[in-house]
Amino acid sequence: MSDFLVIGSGIAGLSFALKAAKHGTVTVISKGKLLDSNTAWAQGGISAVLPPGLRDPNDSCEKHIADTLDAGAGLCHEQAVRTIVSEGAETIEELVAWGTDFDRDEDHPALFSLGKEGGHSERRILHAKDPTGREIASSLVQTARAHPAITLQEGHYAIDLITTGKLGVITDDRVLGAYVLEIATGTVKVMESPRVILATGGCGKTYLYTTNPDSATGDGLAMAWRAGASVANMEFIQFHPTCFYNPAATGPEARSFLVSEAVRGEGAVLVNAAGHQFAKEHDPRGSLAPRDIVARAIDTEIKRTGAPCVFLDVSPLGDTFAARFPFIHETLRSFGHNALEKPIPVVPAAHYQCGGVVTDLHGKTSVRGLYAIGEVACTGLHGANRLASNSLLEGNVLARRALTEIMRLYPPGKDIPPAPEIPPWESGDAAPPDELVNIYHAWDELRRTMQDYVSIVRTDNRLRRAAYRLRNLRREVKEFYWGHTLTPDILELRNLVATASLIVDSALLRKESRGSHHTLDYPQTEARFDQDTVLRKF
Ligand code: FAD
Ligand code: SIN
Repeated sequence: MSDFLVIGSGIAGLSFALKAAKHGTVTVISKGKLLDSNTAWAQGGISAVLPPGLRDPNDSCEKHIADTLDAGAGLCHEQAVRTIVSEGAETIEELVAWGTDFDRDEDHPALFSLGKEGGHSERRILHAKDPTGREIASSLVQTARAHPAITLQEGHYAIDLITTGKLGVITDDRVLGAYVLEIATGTVKVMESPRVILATGGCGKTYLYTTNPDSATGDGLAMAWRAGASVANMEFIQFHPTCFYNPAATGPEARSFLVSEAVRGEGAVLVNAAGHQFAKEHDPRGSLAPRDIVARAIDTEIKRTGAPCVFLDVSPLGDTFAARFPFIHETLRSFGHNALEKPIPVVPAAHYQCGGVVTDLHGKTSVRGLYAIGEVACTGLHGANRLASNSLLEGNVLARRALTEIMRLYPPGKDIPPAPEIPPWESGDAAPPDELVNIYHAWDELRRTMQDYVSIVRTDNRLRRAAYRLRNLRREVKEFYWGHTLTPDILELRNLVATASLIVDSALLRKESRGSHHTLDYPQTEARFDQDTVLRKF
């Protein structure tokens, strides 16, 4: 039993663990290696309005708030935006104290170097060249490893949350811990804690083309849903405009390699094969408009011209491209592309889950004792479309706020009512080899269905087709799940199907176009849909 059980080792989980460790014992589990997370893949950086003297003199919290509200297309919760943006400076201080080394201004080393991305009216993105996420994640892992109150367990896959409700006590429904598969041994453990923090990240792998690593399979969202938590705004899946298009690629790294928006922030422009800057026809901000607009502009251009991709021309940056973005430059070169010689072929790819498990501004879900922070959660910050580089900020701020609330309501040491005994996990039989083929086929079918029918531009007809196929997949997955020894592949498939179903159900409910949800059947934004799409399990 730990005082705190944290599921996930990205910025949200590890920031929480480092703070909570001052108050009790913390176990952090991660299904892969500690650095297998979206956090470690982040490139552009983290947005924050620093104190006067350290920030661009033109910038202010009010401007960051206005940019976030504008990108969110009328669905951000203003209070959430105000709260999270105003804690930006504290977040940077904390990350620096934990060892993150953000780039400094070459001429004034006391100042941070600030970048820009789509939808930001000022320079306010702190970065560590272009592998910013790796710098943040490594410093958090290193600091957590050194903390005596934190136990880090890699290769531990949370299967499901355990609640009193699931054990038959419905008058006092609260979380008791989680069933966790130790992947190396195949053993399912009961990990008990009255305070469970879901920090499992997003669900990019529901789509065939995504910028996300393999770990992003919507596990936390699906677990929370099964435990009875409400889920909101899942129709708003953000597509990043510039994923490297590489038809010769065989490995997932080459297929999902992101070319940061920060490259456009420094002057690179999107062009078609004829060299025309088509994005300007869609928004006066052109290549640096918010992501939903740019991704749709590319989608339209690809459909209009019949070309498989568009291009990112980095020539306006000259030599600074290689110096400012060495990771991107070298990785592209390793894939056989020299961006200094030829524009980079790019396509949009699923990138970020703007909705998630409904929480308040302390990460509190509708299940007592269960907190959700980071990309898995929906606090109201992102609305219908997240502003670039606001997610690393949100992960850290919500970690701080969740701990404050937990210490107010259920501090370690406070008496907690006794709970029913938790039964051990019951496993099925081993999967015969031909069943494995079915599992892999279902994975592919699911991701292709979402890519083809639930992508950047939607229609009711395509969404209904997706819903029909997902119904069949849910039935098949139930058979795999109950019949066989559990493997991460089966568990991820089960969660992907649940998450994809929540995306499609939410998309079918929103009969308008707004932010990252665009449908040809209802092309306008409508005032009657100025509200979250909340799904509740009864
Ligand atoms: P993650 O960092 O994804 O961590 C989730 C953790 O949960 C992982 O450790 C995972 O293994 C674990 N996990 C998941 N399921 C289970 C389970 N069942 N059992 C146990 N463990 C589990 N945002 C920005 O603000 N700025 C950027 O520059 C930026 N660039 C990005 C670039 C890329 C390529 C990508 C993919 C995303 C980028 N984002 C960026 C988004 C940002 O990285 C994520 O939103 C953020 O890192 C999410 O943090 P998190 O802690 O919520 O989740
Ligand atoms: C990027 O670097 O383009 C990604 C930034 C983000 O998703 O916030």
